[in-house]
Amino acid sequence: MEVIIQPTAEAASLEAAKKVAAIVRSKPNAVLGLATGSTPLGLYRELIRMHRDEGLDFSQVTTFNLDEYVGLGAEHPASYHHFMWQFLFSHININPSRAHLPDGLASDIPSFCGRYEQAITEAGGLDLQILGIGADGHIGFNEPASSLASRTRIKTLTERTRSDNAHFFAPGEMVPQHVITMGVGTIMEAREVLLLGFSSRKAEALAAAIEGPVTQMVPASVLQFHPKATVLLDEAASGNLQRADYYRHVYANKPVWQRI
Ligand code: F6R
Repeated sequence: MEVIIQPTAEAASLEAAKKVAAIVRSKPNAVLGLATGSTPLGLYRELIRMHRDEGLDFSQVTTFNLDEYVGLGAEHPASYHHFMWQFLFSHININPSRAHLPDGLASDIPSFCGRYEQAITEAGGLDLQILGIGADGHIGFNEPASSLASRTRIKTLTERTRSDNAHFFAPGEMVPQHVITMGVGTIMEAREVLLLGFSSRKAEALAAAIEGPVTQMVPASVLQFHPKATVLLDEAASGNLQRADYYRHVYANKPVWQRI
């Protein structure tokens, strides 16, 4: 696991965008796993700018999002379908038939989840999975105590995650209890993962994930076993890391060919 600490979330988002762009340029039909929430917004803004100003081409890219709320259709303003079109897809030249998200209105959820896994496999697997992290250490919506071997399935959100995400919903509107999420095992099969963590609110979860024991109680900690995982943090999010100075030293002294 490579840990990169940047002064601000903006700087870290630019680094993340460079990594995504490098993959898309070297493999125009790359398969990207995408996240929603506040964390990837700066990354998506920069990808839009790269598309507009530098011609970064998404026409052959395939995407699979991590998760969606059960019961919310694509038109619902708090659905992750809506989020992705609002903050990324409408502004780049992605082929809509290649942009996949779990279907929050699926009538048979287990069979939908099986087909979602199958579609990822048929697309050739994920080249890069973008991740945020919950304050409780979740990735995707794999809450603490999720199986580290789990696949795409229905999950019940914790009350903490529901309250953390309430700001995406209209005042007084209920945050759904259930979601469809890629499993931890699904995420671990991505050839590369990029975890973004910003703000002091994430510092405790990030320290547990990066430096603590691997445990299902902190699902993000399983990334310690991933062969190609990068964690990009801002200063505030790195506040609880014991080895922060060492990670900075490593990054500052990297050979040029090893940089993003
Ligand atoms: C979103 C997702 C979640 C979020 C996490 C952090 O698709 O899978 O794991 O990445 O809840 O959310 P934010 O970025 O809003 O703090």
